[in-house]
Amino acid sequence: MIPIIETSRLTLREFRETDADSLHRLLSEDGVLRYFPNPNPPSLERVQRFIALQLAHWGEHSFGWWAVTPRGEQELIGWNGLQFLPETHEIEVGYLLAKPYWGRGFAIEGARAGMKFGFETLSLRQIIAVVHPHNFASQHVLEKLGMAWTGWKKYFGMDVFRYVQDRPTRAE
Ligand SMILES: CC(C)(COP(=O)(O)OP(=O)(O)OC[C@H]1O[C@@H](n2cnc3c(N)ncnc32)[C@H](O)[C@@H]1OP(=O)(O)O)[C@@H](O)C(=O)NCCC(=O)NCCS
Repeated sequence: MIPIIETSRLTLREFRETDADSLHRLLSEDGVLRYFPNPNPPSLERVQRFIALQLAHWGEHSFGWWAVTPRGEQELIGWNGLQFLPETHEIEVGYLLAKPYWGRGFAIEGARAGMKFGFETLSLRQIIAVVHPHNFASQHVLEKLGMAWTGWKKYFGMDVFRYVQDRPTRAE
């Protein structure tokens, strides 16, 4: 079962097959995929496959990307969550929002909730993030999350910045 997480302004819930059209529209917005390895908007079929793969990912790892909506509303405004990277066996935090929702702190709010789930519910030891060197908004998000920059590295065939955060030790 994929948990539902509510933050003060967002709901993180499982992706559904019926999200395909909205997600397809969202990913076709100019600039949303600008810093991704493949910046071309995907076809509807690819988006449908993406949703099926996310559900399979949750089944295999007990974590994955959630669909993000404004809290208590139906409108899909992005994704957020954790992904297993098979090449390095690391777990990555990621997020993406529809353009009208940029600049309101939603990425930080969603990512914080996803990382808390990773560290506290799944007892992950470490979460990483990778970001295009020109994606300053995303770098700000990672810095505000308290992640540490570790340098350049190649992921998904791209030279990117890598960030890391270890599981916080509990205060005595
Ligand atoms: C990256 C993204 C998720 C940021 O989301 P957001 O909700 O707008 O981010 P926040 O509102 O939480 O802002 C984070 C910080 O970055 C700053 N910021 C936002 N846009 C910025 C920009 N273009 N350049 C520099 N700083 C920026 C904000 O001012 C904020 O800092 P502040 O709180 O000190 O003012 C959003 O731009 C997005 O979805 N982009 C497309 C997908 C993507 O690139 N995902 C990340 C892949 S690694």
